[in-house]
Amino acid sequence: MFGTERQLKEIDPQIYKVINQETMRQYDGLELIASENYVSEAVLETCGSVLTNKYAEGYPGKRYYGGCEIVDIAENLARDRAKQLFGCEHVNVQPHSGSQANMAVYFATMSPGDTMMGLNLSHGGHLTHGHKVNFSGILYNVVHYSVNQETEVVHYDEVLKLAREVKPKLIMTGASAYPRTIDFSEFKKIADEVGAILVADIAHIAGLVATGLHPSPFPHADFVTTTTHKTLRGPRSGMIMCKEEYAKALDKMVMPGMQGGPLMHIIAAKAVAFQEALQPSFREYQEQIIRNAQAMADELIQSGIRLVSNGTDTHLVLLDLRDTGLNGKQVEEALGKAKITVNKNTIPFDPQKPFVTSGIRIGTPAVTTRGMKEPEMRKIARWIIQVISQYENENIYKQVASEVSEMCAKFPIYSDRLVI
Ligand SMILES: Cc1ncc(COP(=O)(O)O)c(C=O)c1O
Repeated sequence: MFGTERQLKEIDPQIYKVINQETMRQYDGLELIASENYVSEAVLETCGSVLTNKYAEGYPGKRYYGGCEIVDIAENLARDRAKQLFGCEHVNVQPHSGSQANMAVYFATMSPGDTMMGLNLSHGGHLTHGHKVNFSGILYNVVHYSVNQETEVVHYDEVLKLAREVKPKLIMTGASAYPRTIDFSEFKKIADEVGAILVADIAHIAGLVATGLHPSPFPHADFVTTTTHKTLRGPRSGMIMCKEEYAKALDKMVMPGMQGGPLMHIIAAKAVAFQEALQPSFREYQEQIIRNAQAMADELIQSGIRLVSNGTDTHLVLLDLRDTGLNGKQVEEALGKAKITVNKNTIPFDPQKPFVTSGIRIGTPAVTTRGMKEPEMRKIARWIIQVISQYENENIYKQVASEVSEMCAKFPIYSDRLVI
């Protein structure tokens, strides 16, 4: 018989071990993946709460199941706080992920075969912005815009020219690996000129947008999609904001159109994360993320590494490794041995395949959550250079790994959860 007194350790020692090992990995290594972060204990507690048990198909006050009056409070809090954070007219907090948020918007606004535009994946876009292996590229006629080859930033006159030619029904803006500010007002002019719906996917920059450190896509975009787990530092999930005129169609598409029961524990955890993001300290945190990315960029450039677009305005930098003689795959693996976690990433006009790549993407949200500042960023950048310049020197990897461990112990995270 299922008993609440029985602990995970006894019931499933294998998963218990996985959780402990992963907690240690997150504690004892430098997490530089730009799309990751460490959630607070309050968010973790909510994710692991009994709210996971509740089915609540529908929306607050209009559910298909009984017993929803308490979880309704959580969903309403998440909605109200999201509106306050982003200044949007309507929000749907039910998408399970960023990909599903984008899917819901496409399904609510386009028919299969319609033309849409999105940033090329290898220039910083996301799979769901129309890549051929993704549902978006399979269902729609996608015409990708690119960054300019010389400047490696989006040139709005080039996007306009393309939009005039292909007359898209929808233009997607936003990116997964684009270090520069996106001018949503320029995209709005383009969308208006060709009569397209404008969607801004702010998954990566949501925390910066919420705190005014990146221009808001409002009032320009018709829809704004986001994940909640990157710079926003909430649980792994998605969310869609839109103008009131689209609210009904959007909600209907999320449920019953695409999803069944919402994950009420995760929606409640979003409410908690939004509450945290509404505090003044969250703006200070976001400011530090940017200062840290700039310190990292500066140190890397000084050491002779070329950065895509020569720097950053945001939380991430993209290293062009071509002059080092190494590729992204090699550097990702080498840094992993030195307890520095990054991801290989294509760079614009990359000659390498996506599983090899010529680039590495580095983000500062997670290390900033640990309290690290510019001096630590410069140290980390120098370790990265050391590993690259002494590629295949296992002793160097070991030495860097031990220095990384020392630094991590000075900026502890989830210490109370460690089982040694
Ligand atoms: C810009 C952008 N949109 C959407 C997504 C998809 O989010 P998820 O992984 O939650 O489906 C990502 C994830 O990295 C992203 O970077």
